[in-house]
Amino acid sequence: MEFDNGGKLKLVTLAAICFMILSQADAFDPLDPTGNVTIRWDIMSWTSDGYMATVTVLNFQQYRTIMNPGWTIGWTWAKKEIIWAVMGAQATEQGDCSKFKLKIPHSCKRNPQVVDLMPGAPFNMQYNNCCKGGVLTSWGQDPAGAVSAFQIGVGLSGTSNKTVKLPKNFKLLGPGPGYSCGPAKLVPATVIPTDDHRRKAQALSMKYTNSH
Ligand SMILES: *[C@@H]1O[C@H](CO)[C@@H](O)[C@H](O)[C@H]1NC(C)=O
Ligand SMILES: *[C@@H]1O[C@H](CO)[C@@H](O)[C@H](O)[C@H]1NC(C)=O
Repeated sequence: MEFDNGGKLKLVTLAAICFMILSQADAFDPLDPTGNVTIRWDIMSWTSDGYMATVTVLNFQQYRTIMNPGWTIGWTWAKKEIIWAVMGAQATEQGDCSKFKLKIPHSCKRNPQVVDLMPGAPFNMQYNNCCKGGVLTSWGQDPAGAVSAFQIGVGLSGTSNKTVKLPKNFKLLGPGPGYSCGPAKLVPATVIPTDDHRRKAQALSMKYTNSH
């Protein structure tokens, strides 16, 4: 189980920025001029046929929450990648995995869509910041509640940052008028400022004090 990725080296980080599609009537949102939802794709480790990534959805809107029934995110694989497993979320469809005989992937869709798990999901399916039913507060209200994350195991992809092909065409679906996401870009792998990270930092400094 992973409880905190804050201190781990992120090998490759991709970010897609999504903006709410506003109607003609409120095309400029004076309350939330830079509000956006960012999807981060952090590759944390390489595996024999792909990698493990932590995917984080950050609701950087100051006032707009993502209400029930919550977010759905989707993307298009660059080649023939598959999802071996997901922790803290699930793909909505398995797709055609008939060519796999021994180990069956979680999803073989070329355009997978992933939803959050509900609160109270079994402990062994949870992941740090998961299981909010896709419901997020706004960053302005409560930064800790504005973050969702899940872990994904990707197969049939590159296994190094030279050979990996990153997913494209990110989509964010949610209640309301919807979002439009720009092309995902490689970004410097900064630490995600989650509440859990602050807690971890405090725990570490307590340990330090106790050892003296
Ligand atoms: C590729 O990986 C190495 C370490 O394995 C890292 O130092 C380097 O920054 C990575 N390059 C990119 C573009 O992420
Ligand atoms: C997204 O929101 C964050 C937090 O407000 C802001 O720092 C960033 O510049 C925004 N990104 C874009 C492309 O507007």
